[in-house]
Amino acid sequence: MEQLITPIKHLQKPLEIGDITLRNRFGMSSVSRNRADGTYPNALNGEYFYQRALGGAGFICAGGALIEPQGTAMRETPQIDTHEHMLAWRRVVDRVHEVPGAVFYCQLWHCGRMTYQDAKIQKEYGKPTIAPSAIQARMGIAPDNDGVYDLEPGLDKGYSKPTAIENPKDVIEQFRRSAILAKEAGFDGVELHGANGYLVSQFLDDTANIRTDDYGGSVENRARFALECIDALVEVWGPKKVGIKLSPATGRGDLGMPVERQIEQFTYLIRELDKRPLAHVHTLWTEGAVPANQRTEWMDMEVDGKMRGPLHPVWATYRHLIKNAKVFLNGAISLIEAEELLKDGTGDLIIFGRPWLVNPDFASAAIAGKEKELQFEYNFDYFAQYPIGDPAKGYTDYPFITKPDYKAPGLKT
Ligand SMILES: Cc1cc2nc3c(=O)[nH]c(=O)nc-3n(C[C@H](O)[C@H](O)[C@H](O)COP(=O)(O)O)c2cc1C
Repeated sequence: MEQLITPIKHLQKPLEIGDITLRNRFGMSSVSRNRADGTYPNALNGEYFYQRALGGAGFICAGGALIEPQGTAMRETPQIDTHEHMLAWRRVVDRVHEVPGAVFYCQLWHCGRMTYQDAKIQKEYGKPTIAPSAIQARMGIAPDNDGVYDLEPGLDKGYSKPTAIENPKDVIEQFRRSAILAKEAGFDGVELHGANGYLVSQFLDDTANIRTDDYGGSVENRARFALECIDALVEVWGPKKVGIKLSPATGRGDLGMPVERQIEQFTYLIRELDKRPLAHVHTLWTEGAVPANQRTEWMDMEVDGKMRGPLHPVWATYRHLIKNAKVFLNGAISLIEAEELLKDGTGDLIIFGRPWLVNPDFASAAIAGKEKELQFEYNFDYFAQYPIGDPAKGYTDYPFITKPDYKAPGLKT
């Protein structure tokens, strides 16, 4: 049967966030690609984001930038930690801003306990793996994915046992410092990585956070770290340039309270976030994002053969709580679903992750009705996306379907 082409209507509409107007509602998700020079972003990274800006992305979030070397288990992951990192990012940002209308956010990231004490860079840094409490995540990487991690063969592949953070305010100050660097680099805003089992999520979850101080022990206390991080970013940027990414239904990184507790925790957090009010709250619907046949150990979602994580319908549960920020939706969303989610008001912008990896002009091509030429396969191997050999391969070498054209519909001249 002839495949129908999705009419792109709502995705083409501009979106105002504070004093920025996004040229359309095609967002590009933060996706780590492990192609920095050590911890420094480079010209190839600039080219990659520039291509996606040229290809019509209305909003681009850079792949997670680590706020300190702790947690740099994955190799060639960029940091935003020093003046030199800021200068390297500035060159990337400048390249992206060559495209009129391009909006480029920096995602601030700390892995917490999802790290390897034995990774080379962390050994050099000489500080322990940290987390809200000294509870080890009962998982790690599968042995056949060594290429992604800077680990010597034969090492224990489980995540390291963390040391409990002495004073969370010290880490919050690190987030603030990185937010200042992101501003100096010229980004248009920052997104706090509060999803996918990393440090901010670890504080929210009472199976990872058993603190007895102000940062644990109650719904309010477990949300304090996320909220104080956000407040630090807002002090630097103002509220309308700060967003947060959340994954309330994820079991990644050995997290997952029973559903009722999870809903209570995220309901409180999202209500408090909405009081700021932020630029955006970005929610990942994990069940949709991860096909059943990919929820394997290496996705860090299974412990002892059982799925971790309280699967529940994220948008139906939390959407109504967000009244003052823009709602970004993410998780294996098709073009037709995107149009419906925008039309019925579930979301204000659709964040696409994997489609942008293989289609540099994903937005322009969809707008131009070239849907059939797009590669739109969510069911591909995550690890094929990491570099083997030439870092440009599978990164900046995908062809444009449309001719990059500033006058294409939805794009500003
Ligand atoms: C290779 C790879 C790396 C990723 N790195 C990040 C990251 O650094 N930060 C983040 O928030 N999400 C990261 N994600 C998750 C994506 O941003 C996105 O939430 C997920 O792929 C679901 O969206 P999609 O179904 O449109 O791809 C990554 C995903 C992939 C496939």
